Parts: sequence; C-alpha cells; structure tokens
Amino acid sequence: MSRHLLDIEHFDRSELEAIIERGVELSAGAACRARSGTVANLFFEPSTRTRVSFEMAARRLGLEVVNIDHSKSSTSKGESLADTGRTLAAMGIDAIVLRHPEDHAAAGLAASLDGLPTGVINAGDGQHAHPSQALLDAVSLRIAGFDDWSRLRVAIVGDIRHSRVARSDAALFERLGVSELRLVGPAAFLPDDEEMAGATRYADLDRALDGADVVICLRIQRERIGSSGYPDGPSFHDEWGLTEARLARMPPHARILHPGPVNRDVEISAALVEAPQSLILQQVRAGIHLRTALFEWLIEPTSTAY
Ligand code: CP
Repeated sequence: MSRHLLDIEHFDRSELEAIIERGVELSAGAACRARSGTVANLFFEPSTRTRVSFEMAARRLGLEVVNIDHSKSSTSKGESLADTGRTLAAMGIDAIVLRHPEDHAAAGLAASLDGLPTGVINAGDGQHAHPSQALLDAVSLRIAGFDDWSRLRVAIVGDIRHSRVARSDAALFERLGVSELRLVGPAAFLPDDEEMAGATRYADLDRALDGADVVICLRIQRERIGSSGYPDGPSFHDEWGLTEARLARMPPHARILHPGPVNRDVEISAALVEAPQSLILQQVRAGIHLRTALFEWLIEPTSTAY
C-alpha cells in the first residue's frame, strides 16, 4: 500500500516525532538512505522554497525528478487531476508532490491512486494544509534548541484564516503537546471558533507576544482573498506587524519563524528578517532535510518503478 502525506491529522505523535527527529539527524550530517525511483513535482501554484527543496531532497537520495509545468500539461486541455495522477502512475512515478489551489486536492489525488504504487505528498492545498512546512518548522525549532514541546508557548500572528501553514502548524503543535498556542490578528483573519479550538485567541498583539517563546509571522494570503477590504501595508504593520519594540516583549531566547515569502514591513519589520532571533533562512535549510526524511519514509528502499 502506498504512503501519503496529506495532512498532519492522519498521524499520531510518535510518527510525527520520528519524521522530525530524522530531519534533525539529517540536518546534523547523517547519511541519507538512498532510494531509487522517480518523483514528479506537480505545482499548480507558484513556489520557490517548497518546489526546489523537494527537488533537492529527491536528488540527494538518488531519485529522478520530473518537474511538470502545469500550464503545458494536459490539465490545460481539460484532463482532471485524477486522470493526470493515474497517467503519471502508469509511467511508474513513485511519488507525486502536489501543490494545488483547492482545499483537499491532495486527498482527492491520493484517492484516485488507490491500489496503485504511487504516493502523494501535499505541498500545500488551498487554505487547508501544508504539512511538510509544519514539520520543517518543528525541525527548525529542535535545531534551535527547543527540545521540550510541553514548555513551548507559540504565537501565530496575522492572516491565520486563509493560511494552510497555520492550520498545519496548529495541528502539529497540538499533537506535540505544546504548552500554549496563541492566535492573534485582525478579526477578519482569525479562523472560525470551531477551528483550532485548543488555541487561545488574542485581540491585542502585544499581549499575545508577552512571554511567548516562538512567534510565527504570516503574510496576508492576497491570492485567496482579493485585493481590498482588509488591513494591509503600513496600517497592518502598525497594528499587527512584528517590530523590534514588540519583539522586546518576548524572552531573550525567543525566536521568529516565517514560512515565506516575506512581505517586509507588512507582517514583519525589514530589520527583523535577518535579526539573530530570526530562523527564516534556517527554516529554508531545514526544509531540504525534512523533505529528504519524508522521501525516505514514503518510498520503499526497493523501488516499485518499472
Ligand atoms: N513556505 C512556502 O510554501 O514557500 P513557497 O511558496 O516558496 O514554496
């Protein structure tokens, strides 16, 4: 049976911790476990970090990679995602890394491949889930020295409502048993009450940051919400942006995460992107190692390719 990474909720804590720890090991220089086979990157939305790091991770393991330009694929001629998936499976593709604008697109693709030896990795679907980003966030925190989840207080700031990263981070931190998860942002950017129910909601950023160990800044997901009717630019920065003054409310050991791409001086001051407390580029590096760990987990040592 093929393995899939569709969201965090399909996994229990021990499975998640095993993948995170393997990402930490690989970050520290552990040897990769070679695999053979072929991975297809199938991205229907733009990406720099996720697409490139999945490709680098696959190549590190000895896997072949095909990058599919969706605008030149037969999806532009009306082929369904399911039929595209079955076509790739028929070519012997071992894993499809999918980014797609629709919620649950990855689960739909996996269902269409039922019984076939092709795994699916969700590289971000709509505003639903981005599980490999959450896992690499956890790897980044472990590398930075946060090794007791039960003592960790995490604040997620900004456009949480439209963020697949926030949903996967919240699910992962809940599974890992963090001490506190705080959500803060404009009312229009907070999720419905029944979502992320274990988190504490704040209406004031300064209060939400007070004593937090980690702040995760999120950009406004403009591609999902149009271009007007919500706070943006300088007005967003004044009320909801991470500034040096606000960072000073956090403990000296506090660290900044941001999944990227960053909009400087909107959700985070330009000066903080490269600050010593910022793990933003460490997250990018951790992404290669975490995604290497994911392919080791997803693809059996003996390829099913033919
Ligand atoms: N964090 C993230 O998903 O970045 P990309 O859109 O560049 O892949």
